[in-house]
Amino acid sequence: MYSKKIDEILSENKIMPGDLVKIEPDGITGEIMPKPDSSDSCILVIKLKNGYNIGIEFRPETKIKKIRGADFRFEFSGEGISEVAGLPDIALIYTGGTIGSKVDYKTGGVYMLIKPEELLHEVPELSLIANIKVENLFSIASEDMTYTEWQKIAVRISELITNNKDLRGIVITHGTDTMHYTASALSFMLGDVPIPVVLTGSQRSSDRGSSDAFMNLVCATHIASKSDIAEVGICMHNSSNDDFCAFIRGTKARKMHTSRRDAFAAVNDKPMALVSQSGDIEITNGYKKRRSIGGQIKPRLEFEGKVALVKVYPNSDPSIIDFYIEKKYAGIIIEGTGLGHAPVSGSHEELRWTESIKRAIDAGIIVGMTSQCIFGRTNPYVYRNLRILSGLGVVYCEDMTPETAYVKLGWLLGNFKKDEARKMLNQNLAGEIKARTEFEE
Ligand code: DGL
Repeated sequence: MYSKKIDEILSENKIMPGDLVKIEPDGITGEIMPKPDSSDSCILVIKLKNGYNIGIEFRPETKIKKIRGADFRFEFSGEGISEVAGLPDIALIYTGGTIGSKVDYKTGGVYMLIKPEELLHEVPELSLIANIKVENLFSIASEDMTYTEWQKIAVRISELITNNKDLRGIVITHGTDTMHYTASALSFMLGDVPIPVVLTGSQRSSDRGSSDAFMNLVCATHIASKSDIAEVGICMHNSSNDDFCAFIRGTKARKMHTSRRDAFAAVNDKPMALVSQSGDIEITNGYKKRRSIGGQIKPRLEFEGKVALVKVYPNSDPSIIDFYIEKKYAGIIIEGTGLGHAPVSGSHEELRWTESIKRAIDAGIIVGMTSQCIFGRTNPYVYRNLRILSGLGVVYCEDMTPETAYVKLGWLLGNFKKDEARKMLNQNLAGEIKARTEFEE
């Protein structure tokens, strides 16, 4: 942990990580943190009252005085928090992202944690909520995720559920940028899960005073360990205050902001629940109920990688569709304008999408239509131009987000025959399509 000298001084004064101390002559008060592996062993890490962690160089004149003991236990056994009888068992799968990053006190740069259990050291209050076993599946930024990583996560979740009948829930820490794609993929791949599968992350790393990592992790752990919502979902800040996190259905969640802590929204849906840091859970939507774990869970893992997500915009060139025909793609989701438009009768004939879309459908490619409005529902009937596209065989994807429709089409084409996949694209399978659009949503 710390240097031999610091360790000796700490043990002489019976000071443990988590204790409130005063450091002299600097006059700084805060809680002693367990030392991150990568920083200098002569730097003492203190969590200030405002939430910031700072590194203080331990000099010959440095004195450290204990003010009071820790609020939380800091006992860690190998890969998890040591077990406490009566607390629910949950698994935490670490995959990378900002939630697993910290500032290196020596260089000032953010780095990914080498050992994911360090995450638990940062949030000791988790030890009061659940017995958590942490595992490091991989450590990547979410923009680098592919369907291979989605499959790995789905396999691991299935193994955990199949082999631990007492498991209450699973938390997955993940980069936020593509968390909603992964949430959709897991929703389709895993089908009906018997326990909560909760993805969480953070917009700001755990060393910033404004970090959302702690609250998101605490709230995700509450949902996983004691809610009866047996669904795949995303649990992140509900507003920029630290009052509640929202647990949003995996197929209806979307990242809507680059930096705000309340970046995730339920699109054309309400969150399934709001959860506070103290563990109060308010149900705000319908959901599938927790069941006892029995038998194997058999995920459908295949994914057709040759599916594209294409955006329409004024002056957009339809030959992008021909590019995908040539590349032998199996599916294309179009992010159309408004109710689901692509240009069909503009003054520039070469910019009309009709012929290219027809060629794609004739080549056996499934073409789905979503809306770049994000909120609301596509409709193939209102305008003549829409009827022309649906007449060609374009599948209107109801109120699905473009990202969910993209993931769904790749998954359908991986697991079902083409005709079935086409039919299922606009049928609800995992909460991705709601029958009615509610005004408040
Ligand atoms: N690029 C980001 C990602 O992994 C890092 C930031 C984050 O976790 O939100 O998604």
